[in-house]
Amino acid sequence: MLLDSFGRQAVDLRVSLTDRCNLRCTYCMPEQGLQWLAKPELLTDEEIVRLVALAVRDLGVREVRFTGGEPLLRPGVVSIIAACAELAPRPELSLTTNGVGLARTARALREAGLDRVNVSLDTLDEETFHTLTRRHRHQDVLDGLAAAEAAGLTPVKLNTVLMRGVNDHEAPELLAWCLERGYQLRFIEQMPLDAQHGWTRSQMVTAEEILELLATRFTLTPEPSAARGAAPAERWLVDGGPATVGVIASVTRPFCRACDRTRLTADGQVRNCLFATGETDLRTALRSGASDAELGALWRAAMWGKKAGAGIDDPQFHQPDRPMSAIGG
Ligand code: 5AD
Ligand code: SF4
Repeated sequence: MLLDSFGRQAVDLRVSLTDRCNLRCTYCMPEQGLQWLAKPELLTDEEIVRLVALAVRDLGVREVRFTGGEPLLRPGVVSIIAACAELAPRPELSLTTNGVGLARTARALREAGLDRVNVSLDTLDEETFHTLTRRHRHQDVLDGLAAAEAAGLTPVKLNTVLMRGVNDHEAPELLAWCLERGYQLRFIEQMPLDAQHGWTRSQMVTAEEILELLATRFTLTPEPSAARGAAPAERWLVDGGPATVGVIASVTRPFCRACDRTRLTADGQVRNCLFATGETDLRTALRSGASDAELGALWRAAMWGKKAGAGIDDPQFHQPDRPMSAIGG
């Protein structure tokens, strides 16, 4: 099992399939100039499947989420998912995507065994989408959402990051839009994980502000706290329920104590936290012929060293060198 010294067990594995992306969200990437990983540094499809299989069979991982960058840019994504769906015990399989490529892949992903998708969408306005992502792909994302629903990748979940003065006024509208369609919406506080290190505390729209924005149009009541478990989102019933809205307050109300995540980067490094400043290199070990037992021991040691918390609000906080797109969201 993947235990740490604070008694947490990681059962949820996030696998980044690529650090590349077809959008350039301002809170994630600069307009240009980001260095991509070189092909030989990336794990191959077979190497990814071997490590996921090891995690599921020997290390207690029950849930696998594929992320990026944009995971749908990886040519082998469908076959990687198909191979992971054959593992016993069968892990839950989900994917976090910007939705751009979903219209053409949703059906194949579902047939390969994918259970659910989380789609990132920050705005209902085409212009604002361009301001936020620097690309004209808004309609592709809307089509992708519809395709995910039609393919049965449900419940469709949406992630939204609010940026002050850009899309924060849209919060109630986004929620109404999701409620109409039966999508589950979660707002995420902007985290200091952008490649250009431009995050500031004062620019971040806090969970408290998000709730105030939503309260202008909806009545929110907290879901019983037992329901949160290891889920990072705190959820509220909307207008008495059963519909809910989530808020992931990674900065102002971190959930590190219940964290059950372990992460594998596209270049084969284990990270015990999004905000970890160190990594454990499984790729080199794997390519020099390490056995499953040896790889498992490295992974367990990596997790044992997990810190109690990320401490973003701590003055000593140091942003990780690698951006979110290279770590996996
Ligand atoms: N802060 C918060 N969320 C972020 N995401 C990407 N970068 C950041 C950031 N700096 C979101 C994406 C996606 C999910 C993987 O994380 O919008 O929904
Ligand atoms: Fe791409 Fe996601 Fe980063 Fe936006 S947040 S640039 S969609 S990886």
